[in-house]
Amino acid sequence: TNNFSGEEKPLPIPPLLEDENPDPNKAEFTLVAQTGSMEFLKGKPTDTFGYNGNYLGPVIRVKKGDDVSIKVKNELDEATTLHWHGLEVDGEDDGGPNSGIQPGTTWNPQFTIDQNAATLWYHPHLLHKTGEHVYKGLAGLFIIDDQDSEQLDLPNEYGVNDIPLIVQDKQLDENGQFAYNLGMQDVMMGLQGDTIMVNGAINPYVEVPKGKVRFRLLNGSNARIYQFALSNSQDFYQIGTDGGLLEEPVKLSNLILSSAERAELIVDFSSYKEGETVELTDQGLPFLKFVVTGEEKGPKELPAHLVDIPQVDESMATNTRKFVMSGMGQNVTINGKQMDMDRIDEKLKLHDTEIWEITNDGMGMMGNNMGMAHPFHGHGTQFLILDRDGNPPPPNERGWKDTILVSPGEKVRAIATFDHKGLFMYHCHILEHEDAGMMGQFTVE
Ligand code: C2O
Ligand code: CU
Ligand code: CU
Repeated sequence: TNNFSGEEKPLPIPPLLEDENPDPNKAEFTLVAQTGSMEFLKGKPTDTFGYNGNYLGPVIRVKKGDDVSIKVKNELDEATTLHWHGLEVDGEDDGGPNSGIQPGTTWNPQFTIDQNAATLWYHPHLLHKTGEHVYKGLAGLFIIDDQDSEQLDLPNEYGVNDIPLIVQDKQLDENGQFAYNLGMQDVMMGLQGDTIMVNGAINPYVEVPKGKVRFRLLNGSNARIYQFALSNSQDFYQIGTDGGLLEEPVKLSNLILSSAERAELIVDFSSYKEGETVELTDQGLPFLKFVVTGEEKGPKELPAHLVDIPQVDESMATNTRKFVMSGMGQNVTINGKQMDMDRIDEKLKLHDTEIWEITNDGMGMMGNNMGMAHPFHGHGTQFLILDRDGNPPPPNERGWKDTILVSPGEKVRAIATFDHKGLFMYHCHILEHEDAGMMGQFTVE
């Protein structure tokens, strides 16, 4: 990767999307998928996709209990869909591959926010096109607040000490274009770029106050698995997972995050002098610089207890369902099958609690055993990990998860309750694997 070879730019902060409904318990938004242009490289404008702008999308921010209506207009020249990743809504509002939005038309899902505070995201989900659409820039954050999260003494000034970080790796060709021409390696492993962007900027820096700062981190990459750390090896705290806050802050020196996973982190800059800097790195490579200002802000101490996470007992499960992920490239399968829009793979009963046993059989190309890790994602609910190969999950995974990285040869058991009806997907979130058919459909009735 070639970060920090060019000029540094201020980190763009995605704007909060305006709620068009004055009623405090209702929210109405408009998202427009459109083509755009960005000058990532000087003098070489890149053709992009974005929502309501040139690249990426605004942040949708709602409260638990809100009645939400979102108009999604497609101004692209091709069909797309819009999926709310991690949101617990009925299948008809989920925006999966069956909810195509034709060019020039608008899709208007309506739902009530039925889950706790969390940092979720949205992105297209059209069959065989998800990788390309996300790669060109279609993605944004979806933040839920609730009473508990608002009462906790956590850094919460958006863009000041509560900062969203959408991390994506990209490859720009000699003309500065996002070349979504998949080579052999990209088909096998998923597309990995040579440049890391944060919120659509290469080599960004961001000013942070002296004190504790919260980062809402999304791995919005097509395939890359990151290992995040600070350049000075300083510890930080994880306070949230994909689907909400953890019970307590978990101290970490590094964090592995696969495609589509989120983490809320707290970094303490209290001991920094004005103007001092530190970098966020991926496997040692710096890609975002923090510049500490003189201003002091935020809570002195982190709350020792964040939220209660209900103990979902194994005995509540009425069924154990098995998913075996296998292969690479065009050979990818789940339970030996590739995605077929006309086939329902699994049928669940509404309100049932199930254990999903997710195995990565470690198979690679042509049935060799040189396979790779796959991030498994299920729609329509949030999971709690029961165990990884029989061992309790690490402390920073003891919270709500919708995307679970499973290593070659590993077996993960997760439990979830399915309280929303309709048609949903489960799939590998390496988007090139998903597009190659590493996906299945389930109904909840
Ligand atoms: Cu993030 Cu099925 O998607
Ligand atoms: Cu999803
Ligand atoms: Cu995969």
